[in-house]
Amino acid sequence: MGYLMPSSKDYIKMDLEYGAHNYHPIPVVISRAEGVWVYDPEGKKYLDCLSAYSSQNLGHCHPEIVATLKEQADIVTLTSRAFHNTMMGPFLKMLADVVGPHIYDPNNSGIMSLPMSTGTEAVSTAIKVVRAWGYIKKKIPKDEARIIVCRNNFHGRTVTIVGFSSDISAVRYYGYFGPFTPGFNIIPYGDAKELEKAILEIGPEKVAAFLVEPIQGEAGVKIPPKGYLKKVREICTKYNIVLISDEVQTGFCRTGKFFACEHEDVKPDMILLGKALGGGVYPISACVSTKEIIGPEVITPGTHGSTFGGNPLASAIGMKSIDIHLRDNLAERAKEMGDYFLKRLNEISQKRTKIPIKEIRGKGLLIAIEFEEDARQIVEQLKDNGILAKDTHSTIIRLAPPLVITKNEIDLALEIIEKVLIS
Ligand SMILES: Cc1ncc(COP(=O)(O)O)c(C=O)c1O
Repeated sequence: MGYLMPSSKDYIKMDLEYGAHNYHPIPVVISRAEGVWVYDPEGKKYLDCLSAYSSQNLGHCHPEIVATLKEQADIVTLTSRAFHNTMMGPFLKMLADVVGPHIYDPNNSGIMSLPMSTGTEAVSTAIKVVRAWGYIKKKIPKDEARIIVCRNNFHGRTVTIVGFSSDISAVRYYGYFGPFTPGFNIIPYGDAKELEKAILEIGPEKVAAFLVEPIQGEAGVKIPPKGYLKKVREICTKYNIVLISDEVQTGFCRTGKFFACEHEDVKPDMILLGKALGGGVYPISACVSTKEIIGPEVITPGTHGSTFGGNPLASAIGMKSIDIHLRDNLAERAKEMGDYFLKRLNEISQKRTKIPIKEIRGKGLLIAIEFEEDARQIVEQLKDNGILAKDTHSTIIRLAPPLVITKNEIDLALEIIEKVLIS
């Protein structure tokens, strides 16, 4: 009655005035969402082709996830780990049953998990676990454990994690975040010979783990050459090194398999989960490994934890999210829709585009268009035409819609992408 609702402009102004500028968002405000669609306060509709960086696999506000959230919210939400709760155990058992078969456990020691909230925390957990395992089980001399990582990795934002990033300008912020944690070696991605070379240079007896993304997401959907992960598995087994697969972005059907390592039938010793595990409504992550690596001989009371990790609300949602991914066969769906999307994008790329396209690549519904030049204007034009996507490393646009996207919706997206790229 006579008062004006705030507009998109007002919300953006508030963000810029009161929030640290640690992101450079596309100028769009989302006030409502459902499935693959999001809406701004003015009522304009957009197709979400980012899915909160692959967290919205099930589509926004999935009714069963929201029902679980509401139901559990009325029962018990947070107890801390000072006490047991009725949801965490069943959730951890589900991780053992569902994720366990994807983990290398030659001695059948059993599968155990450490639940946390964000992807970064799953990675931080992994680093502590493999260092402790290295000293306790592998007998690495005190404070000499090394972890090998890959160039162009993205594993999160803590000081330790950014310290082993090779993205000097953005992630390491020109060294303004130093001094960094020692103990990491960076090698090129996608070349197993480099891994073995680094292990031999360091001394195999000092290497605790190799941390790798099976497909590098933030780097711009970089898919390693065929056979890479298989060879990596052999090398890690040969030198008794923990192979950690960071599936925070690639896990839960995104690439057309339940986990991206499956494309090469590879079982890592440890899998890191996040993003889509939370069903798009709640931050839930986990470090899943064998009892030998993460069991009571390595992780003892007080050595790691968080107030929110394993809380009943997270556990209930995590279980529901896994259930839906499996029940609705989302891996198969991601493969089918992804293959179609990629094929049609390749057809578009044959035409003369405004900005030359360098390459189109992808697996399942994790797709990238790499341009020869800065692609920010394309992203903004896509937004103006009703498609939300985001550039990474300025020249690459990632397309990762919810896995529930239909063929008709992909056709609509393609129509707009073609219009923007060609006109
Ligand atoms: C592979 C990978 N690991 C870890 C992370 C960090 O996850 P979060 O942002 O939930 O902390 C990301 C985020 O993009 C990621 O892609």
